[in-house]
Parts: sequence; C-alpha cells; structure tokens
Amino acid sequence: MNAIGELSRSLWMEAGFPRGRALAGNLEVDVAVVGAGIAGLSTAYEFARLGRRVAVFDAGTIAGGMTARTSAHLSYESDDYYQELIRLRGEDEARQYFQSQKAAVDRIEQIALRKGIDCDFARVDGYLFASGASDNGLIEKEREAAMRAGFADVTLLESLPGRATGKALRFPNQARFHPLKYLSGLATALARGGVALYEQTRIVSFREKDGQVTLQSAGGQTIRAGVAVAATNSPVNDFVAIHTKQAPYRTYVFAAPVAKGTVPDCLFWDTQDPYHYVRLQPRQEDDLLIVGGEDHKSGVVADGELRIAALRDWAEELFGPLGETEFAWSGQVYEPVDAVPFAGRNPGNDNIYVITGDSGEGLTTGVAGAIIVAALAQQGQCPWAPVYDPGRKTVKALGEFIKENAGVAKDMAQHLTGGEVASLADIAPGQGALLRLHGEKVAAYRDDDGRLHIVSASCSHAGCVVHFNPFERCWDCPCHGSQFGTDGQVLAGPALKPLASRQA
Ligand SMILES: Cc1cc2nc3c(=O)[nH]c(=O)nc-3n(C[C@H](O)[C@H](O)[C@H](O)COP(=O)(O)OP(=O)(O)OC[C@H]3O[C@@H](n4cnc5c(N)ncnc54)[C@H](O)[C@@H]3O)c2cc1C
Ligand code: FES
Repeated sequence: MNAIGELSRSLWMEAGFPRGRALAGNLEVDVAVVGAGIAGLSTAYEFARLGRRVAVFDAGTIAGGMTARTSAHLSYESDDYYQELIRLRGEDEARQYFQSQKAAVDRIEQIALRKGIDCDFARVDGYLFASGASDNGLIEKEREAAMRAGFADVTLLESLPGRATGKALRFPNQARFHPLKYLSGLATALARGGVALYEQTRIVSFREKDGQVTLQSAGGQTIRAGVAVAATNSPVNDFVAIHTKQAPYRTYVFAAPVAKGTVPDCLFWDTQDPYHYVRLQPRQEDDLLIVGGEDHKSGVVADGELRIAALRDWAEELFGPLGETEFAWSGQVYEPVDAVPFAGRNPGNDNIYVITGDSGEGLTTGVAGAIIVAALAQQGQCPWAPVYDPGRKTVKALGEFIKENAGVAKDMAQHLTGGEVASLADIAPGQGALLRLHGEKVAAYRDDDGRLHIVSASCSHAGCVVHFNPFERCWDCPCHGSQFGTDGQVLAGPALKPLASRQA
C-alpha cells in the first residue's frame, strides 16, 4: 500500500500533465473559469467551441482536485435512485436529469474521439444489486422508476451474475475511463485551441457590476470577464447559501489486482447505505479492482485505515481473494439535499455561474453542468437548467436540509468544550489533536520529526471547529467541507484563507 501521509495518492495520479503557469498580471477575457477539474475543463471546452476567449484558473494544479480521487464510473443511473428523484422532483424532472446524464457520457466519448484522447474509455454494463433479499423490493421498484425516467433497456436479474446476492438491475451502455488521462488530453487540446490555463492562481473574490464580472486573485491580479464560472467543487464565490443545501461526505477507495477474467469489465454498486462501488481498470498482465465506499460525514470520524480494511473484507467476500492493495485513498463528495447537484446561474447574479453538489456522480454532473452553463450564458436557456437550478428550494427535502444543517450548530458549540488532549506533550508524532491553549481552541499536529504545528481550530470559512483526519494528515471542517493542511493552508474550499497560525 502506498504510504498514508499528507494526501493519499490515487491510482490515476500516475498520468502526465500539461502544466499551466501562474497568472502574473491583470487579464481581460470573455469567460473566466475558476477550477480545473472535470467541471472546469469541460466548461472551458463548451465555451471555447462557441468561439469565446476563455481562461481557466486553478489554485493548485490542473486536475489536482477531486477528479484525481474519483473511481471514474460513468453511469446515468441516479445514485440516490430514480424512485427518490421522482418522489422529490416529479417524473418530468427525473426524465430531464436522465437525459442530461446520458448526454454527459456521450459528450466525454465524443470529445475523446474528436481530440484523439487515449483515456481507456469503454462502454460497459452497470449492475445495481441488492446486498440481501430484503432489498429485492427496492430493486424492483427502481427498475420501474428508471424506465419511467428514460432507461428503456434496464433488465431485472435474480442476482448479480455468478454471485450470491439479492436481485440486480443491468444498465447497458454505461462507461468507464481513466479520468486523468482524459483531462490531460482535454487540457492539451484546450491549450492548443487558445484557452489560457493558469495554475497556482487562487481566486479570492467574485464581484459583478453593470454586467461585468471582476475576479481578484490571492496574488493581487484582477481578471475582468463577461462571464465567470465557479467550478471549484465547493463553490468559493458563495459564502453560505448553496453550502446549506449540500453536505460534505468523505468516501474511501482501494485498488488491488485480480487475475484477468476473474471479474468482468463492468460497473457494480449495491443497495447498502453508504453503498459500495466497484469497477475494473484493465492492465496488461492483470486487472485492478477498484472498490469504494464506507462514506461518512466529513470531519466526524477518524478511522480511515479501518474503513479501507472493511472495504477489502467486503470485496473479498463478493469477488474472492485479491492481490496486495496497491493504492488506497479517500476524497470528498457533496451530497445535495434533494438528489440533484447545482449548476447554473448563481442566485443573485446575472453573469456568475456555479457547478457543484456533485454527489457520487460528479463526473457526469460536472460535464452536464458545463453544457448547461454554456447554453444559459450563450442562448439564455437550456431544457435541463430548471432541474439543476442553484436557486431552487425543494420543500419535500426539508427534513434532509434540517438534518444536515443541525450539525453546524453542534460543531460551533465545540469552541466551548475542552480539548481532546490535556497538553501538547500528549500528541504523538504523526498525530493531531484539538486542545485549549491560552483560552482558545487550537488544532495541533506533531510531525514525524517531533516538530509541532499549531493553528487556530476555527475554520476560516465560517468559524466551525476543524477536526484531525489521520488518514490524510490534514484538518477537516464538518460544516461545509473545507480541508486544511497541517500547516493550515487551504487544500479545499469553501475556505479561502489559511487557518491562523498560533504559538505554543
Ligand atoms: C473517492 C471518490 C469516488 C468518486 N467516484 C465517482 C464516480 O465513480 N463517478 C462519478 O461520476 N463521480 C465520482 N466521484 C465524484 C467526482 O469525482 C467529483 O464530483 C468530480 O471529480 C468533481 O469535479 P470538479 O471539477 O467539480 O472538482 P475538482 O476536480 O475538485 O476540481 C475543482 C478545482 O478547483 C480548484 N479550486 C478550488 N478553490 C479554488 C479557488 N479559490 N481558486 C481557484 N481554483 C480553486 C481546485 O484546486 C480543483 O483543482 C467520486 C469522488 C470521490 C472523492
Ligand atoms: S467549511 Fe464552512 S465553516 Fe468550515
């Protein structure tokens, strides 16, 4: 297994990348895209093909965010189930969602073909299976709902072929790919087509006046644009509104070899909550089985290694013995309260757009979001836009909204409680803990050489208490998902500023 430390490396990170440069001066463009993951680069593609002058800005590196940590299933079955989507949003919206997701998979395939991107794209069957007979009813109901949403050819099976499971659904014509090979090829094609790609350029403010958008970078540069798109996974243009409608969850993945022919080249996921998700990445000598799941609300538990072990036990029970784990990593997904992500005009703005709330299908919703945003900005409409509208309120999801937001007040209250350890001396090398120091709650980490790194425990976004994540050695905020390095630097938003440094 690769060493757990700093941020765990996913198997995709071996792909080479075109490098961007940091923005060095002020800039004027038609479209400023903030974030260079699948949502941002797909957005840049959609606007560039409409002939707009586009620049992309990333706080880190191109495709260094959650797209580098995905498991890369390309499926258009809803991971909240179409039966739930129909209950919450009605059959018409479920159908629009289905069409947008299907179009997203087609778009990735077309782009890979048109641009000659060798990214292991393959059409494969997807199987949703009941982990036990008690979920057979759910599977049968889902078949009917999926067909109402648009899946004409979903088949009901007595079990996953060759495995002792409950009933299963087979969705033909889903897909898988290597996400970073794809984004590497896409970034190269964009750069060749005149799109400017900037790395190490954090955008810290979005303002709109008289139809013109002005962005400010952390380095002090100003970018003027007709349109700006926040494709930062968690929207950094918005302080609270959208963050109350989606909740951050961490999910875990490992990859281990299986002999060729042992597991078919398909996508699999089950009905447990949280669900397990499985696929193959073919290699020359053998295949890698990629297994994910064991999700939890971000920042509330600190047992990543146990979760990877539990995933392995689960996978071996279903697929038989696996080779040594070669990669293990985790990442964050945002669960929208009403089963559909947010993509479209940012509430209160005319020319600032947002793509977020990805859930476990953020690759396809990121691509669909890009198509929606470009159509709205260029033609003023898109048939899928109402389904993804960032300003919507779904009354039927009120219970979920209240449940997810109750955690914020609970976390804030932790500023007043004692620490996890009594003194700095109680923190072992490689460990982090919260404690009270000079009357304040601080987050302290001792590195492998014994040096202490102390920062304020108050999240720089809206003040919740951060918690140590020993699996990735960083500080996670449970409220809206910001993640900070042990030195306090921002790894993931919505926070824009580091955690304040503190002395022992
Ligand atoms: C373990 C795991 C498994 C998953 N499996 C699947 C799957 O099988 N299928 C699927 O469809 N989805 C899956 N997902 C979800 C999917 O991978 C993500 O939703 C998707 O990759 C998010 O893409 P993005 O472009 O929105 O964000 P990212 O890839 O995170 O890109 C956002 C970029 O914005 C940049 N940024 C942030 N703040 C700023 C700022 N202030 N200024 C400039 N840049 C900034 C970041 O540096 C980053 O590069 C999975 C996710 C995880 C974690
Ligand atoms: S992410 Fe919002 S308070 Fe931390």
